[in-house]
Amino acid sequence: MKKTTVSAFAKRKASGEKLVMCTAYDAPFAAAVLDAGIDIMLIGDSVGTTLLGYSSTLPVTMEDMIRHTQAVRRGAPEAFLVGDMPFMSYQSSIEEGIRNAGRLIKEGGADAVKLEGGAEYAELTSKLVRSGIPVMGHLGLMPQSVNTMGGYKVQGRSEEAVAKLISDAKALESAGAFCIVLECIPESAAKAVTESLTVPTIGIGCGRYCSGQVQVLHDLLGLLDFRPKHAGRYAEIGQIVREALRSYCEEVKAGTFPKDENIFNK
Ligand code: KIV
Repeated sequence: MKKTTVSAFAKRKASGEKLVMCTAYDAPFAAAVLDAGIDIMLIGDSVGTTLLGYSSTLPVTMEDMIRHTQAVRRGAPEAFLVGDMPFMSYQSSIEEGIRNAGRLIKEGGADAVKLEGGAEYAELTSKLVRSGIPVMGHLGLMPQSVNTMGGYKVQGRSEEAVAKLISDAKALESAGAFCIVLECIPESAAKAVTESLTVPTIGIGCGRYCSGQVQVLHDLLGLLDFRPKHAGRYAEIGQIVREALRSYCEEVKAGTFPKDENIFNK
């Protein structure tokens, strides 16, 4: 499969061919995501809630992000990887943002970084791009701002909010962002933002008119009980895992495991 590049993104939007992105956090699933022909893998800070057992993304550290990005890179050497900048890795200063983004590229093996926020991060975005680090923006519902947003709520419902989304998206585009994730905004708002930009938008919970879609791997595969409204569900792996483990437990207790084929003879 041909690796997606930053320069191919705007062309994909212009051609109308949808971009496909999903999260990955470890080597075996990264290999499966690559095999499926998915264009972009996001090592999301959603690793905090999907794998690490946190109730939000706020506790996720740079070390967590680097370790999971490295694992994904080992599983999918040819994939286009976007590493998420975790909470407080770029908010305190531009210097810290550049240093941490550099770590995701140099130590993690990411091709690009994603950061949440609008015009207030245009300067950081521009400095990252000038330093050779491609930036994916993230607007709408920004999980790292859960405490200031007052919960995980759909954003962009008013005319003023849509105007702000468009001006933030344009500020990021002018600063050099190659793509912008939109999360949980009404379909009409996502369409308006997408039409206002040259760079593509990738939506989650934003309806049909973004330039592409992103989903969390664990939602797609049914690995967790939690089922967000916007999530596509293509398998019920969590159920399969529980049934398999129950069978193993029963067989050990009944003395029917190990079987002949599991036993070494002299
Ligand atoms: O962390 C993540 O998985 C994300 C996606 C929901 C876009 O930011």
